[in-house]
Amino acid sequence: MKMKIRNKTAFTDEVTPLEKENAQVSYEAALEGIVLMENDGTLPLKPGKVALYGAGAGMTIKGGTGSGEVNERHAVSILEGMEEAGFTVTTKRWLKGYEEEYKKGEEAYAAEFRRRMMKLDIVNMMGTPYQYPFGQPVTIEDVQDSDTDTCIYVVARQAGESADRKLKNFEYSLSDEEKANLAMCAANYEKMIVVINVGAVFDMSFLDEIAGIGAVVYYAQQGMTGGKAFADLISGKVSPSAKTVDTWPKKYEDIPFAMDYSYLNGDVDEEYYREGIYVGYRYFDSYDVEPRYPFGYGLSYTDFSVENENVLVDGAKVTVTAKVTNTGDTYAGKEVVQLYVSCPQTGMAKEYQKLAAFVKTDELKPGECETVSLAFDIQDAASYREDDAAFVLEKGDYILRLGTSSRDTSAVAAVVLDDDIVTEQCAHICPVVYTVKEMEAPMLTDTHDIQDTDLERIPLKTADIATAGHQYAEPEIYSSPVTDAVLNVLSDEELCDVVTGAGASGGGPKFFEAPGSAGYTTGELIGKGLPNVCLADGPAGLRLQKTSVVMRNGRLKGVEPMLSAMNYIPDFMKKFTLGNPEKRPCVYQFATSFPVGLALAQSWNTALVERVGEAVGKEMERYGVTYWLAPGMNIHRNPLCGRNFEYYSEDPLLTGKIAAAMSRGVQSRRGCYVTIKHFCCNNQEDNRNHTNANVNERALREIYLRGFRIAVQEGHAKAVMTSYNKVNGIYTNNSYDLLTKVLRNEWGFDGLVMTDWFATGKGVGSHSGAIEAGNDLIMPGGKSAAGELKKRLRAGELDTKALKRCAANVIRGITGSRIYQAYRKMEKKNVSDE
Ligand code: BGC
Repeated sequence: MKMKIRNKTAFTDEVTPLEKENAQVSYEAALEGIVLMENDGTLPLKPGKVALYGAGAGMTIKGGTGSGEVNERHAVSILEGMEEAGFTVTTKRWLKGYEEEYKKGEEAYAAEFRRRMMKLDIVNMMGTPYQYPFGQPVTIEDVQDSDTDTCIYVVARQAGESADRKLKNFEYSLSDEEKANLAMCAANYEKMIVVINVGAVFDMSFLDEIAGIGAVVYYAQQGMTGGKAFADLISGKVSPSAKTVDTWPKKYEDIPFAMDYSYLNGDVDEEYYREGIYVGYRYFDSYDVEPRYPFGYGLSYTDFSVENENVLVDGAKVTVTAKVTNTGDTYAGKEVVQLYVSCPQTGMAKEYQKLAAFVKTDELKPGECETVSLAFDIQDAASYREDDAAFVLEKGDYILRLGTSSRDTSAVAAVVLDDDIVTEQCAHICPVVYTVKEMEAPMLTDTHDIQDTDLERIPLKTADIATAGHQYAEPEIYSSPVTDAVLNVLSDEELCDVVTGAGASGGGPKFFEAPGSAGYTTGELIGKGLPNVCLADGPAGLRLQKTSVVMRNGRLKGVEPMLSAMNYIPDFMKKFTLGNPEKRPCVYQFATSFPVGLALAQSWNTALVERVGEAVGKEMERYGVTYWLAPGMNIHRNPLCGRNFEYYSEDPLLTGKIAAAMSRGVQSRRGCYVTIKHFCCNNQEDNRNHTNANVNERALREIYLRGFRIAVQEGHAKAVMTSYNKVNGIYTNNSYDLLTKVLRNEWGFDGLVMTDWFATGKGVGSHSGAIEAGNDLIMPGGKSAAGELKKRLRAGELDTKALKRCAANVIRGITGSRIYQAYRKMEKKNVSDE
């Protein structure tokens, strides 16, 4: 039977109410995601004349490149946002010059790209994005012509998947040209503001070299309304309330094993996690290294006081109540209150402190106050003891530190545990192949620098703390009347189709499509009770095709490339692959681009992130997307990782809480699922398909798995994407330890696990190994992957029970989707028509 492929595109390109609603959510998120790093009173500015320079001024980078791109209708640049807010930009000539320089550079880049492509040179298209030029010199004439005492200079850098940021190309630091420009501007303008439009930590040492910079704004990458949010922040309409999600070092070398990271030591195959648990502030605080900006730091236009009101220990639950007051007299603002815990330095070596809870206040007017509660379970402070595979709380003082950044806290109480206790008995996972010799533990004393003898001491008995244990067994095959009805009529060979996606081209039979989806589940079984569903990227929104033409055969063809890198392919290829809107009718889908993951986390506002999730969920519903390939939640282990913009933070608790909020938001729309990714240790982009993360079990569990656990257990994330890399010699998609023992046995995950795209096959994790490890779906899949599984099946080399278990998980997701309901309706109608 020839079947019409359904979709939910619109024939009109009119702005929809949902677009307006979501643009507002994106704007609110951007307002809370921009960090004010420095301010000597220069900000806020009254709208007036401003000299605006720099790569990101008119061509502001809204998000990184690669699968994390979003094709929105329009993104507001900083220039546009400022003009709309009433500023007069007086450096239009410089900005126009920059645009020309950009275009010239882009043409040269495109020509080289095409030349290599025609010669079939291996072009890592996504891995070498076009880098923004640094900009022509700012001259004294520019300054004079600008006729103002106020300057904003926007530094911009682009990065994306498949490549780490290169130190030598100034991807992490200012170029000499930019330094000269900043010095020129700082010397000649009275008010000088530097804006960093980069999706990750950046080298700020220029602040020590160039005098006269009055304010620094970390813009990061703020999606389609970022320019408007920026203008409203710098003009004082709204006070900044974002906080850093990473420790910003004084210099790159301050990071542990900085020069061993990824390509820097010449070995992209083996990465040794020698810093162990000492990632980010855990390192800086424990080894007493002064950061430039600490974790959890950010300024406001107003001041706050945070007073501890009460510490309550109820069973294993610790709650600190604090009163936050806006002590300023002009600006309203929000404060992020943070609670850290320092664990006893007995037994195992431990970090100086770790984040235990955080909360953001509502907007407080001058003089207004709010009482906030910060709660956590003491078990969550446990450390993992590798000797006996157990999470343990050791006897002693757990000092609670309350404050507004990791370096600005005061001790409010010590919770005193009477004995050691195992809080969770696990089994060993992911044994190391090559020994990972971790650095010497820091010299921390048990008193944790507490001299305050009046510090309240609250006893806690081990009798009040439970010990969790796990059953390590093959998970049951999921069963329900709906899934069984589909599963039980399919042969084992057909199950091989169920567990492989529809293929890279997205061709083949389809019941439903959302043009631009990154992948589809199989359409081979539409006649047997199983429609396909769509999977679309993230994490900055839905990556879909904005405009498609309707071909004569009724199929849809995108009008623009789905990835910016594809803009550079030769024109004849474009003609062949893209639809021509002048010749055929068009259909539209407009998705919202939100601030990138890092920027969302900088809000430290879980309720806001949940709203972003719900906004994404509404668009999924609108366009018929079932799985969103987001949020990305790898730990910012090193600032040079090319995908840090997509991920949240260096801290697993913050990462987990933000991802859980996002999951709740998306999944509040029935039949819409998140796919938390990339599970796990995807901390390097150079050679990402083969690199091996050598990591000891304690760091693996405390740092790299913890965020995922929170997203699964608190956010109920329904899908997980495995990463490209190996962990201790085994591709994650082939890791029974990670996918079955940890994810399902320990955490109780009962959703769908899928591979990253083309992560299984020749020279990487095997397709069948993935199925047997508990990786349910091979993406993007296709005939060759399904064929390989069938071959193994026939040879008796594929565990049929594992196959069935994976297939049941895939079917469970599909039958829970909205597409399935439409499919059932159609089936019923067909029956009644017959
Ligand atoms: C990325 C994933 C993405 C997938 C589908 C891969 O290259 O690593 O994050 O979801 O492509 O586009």
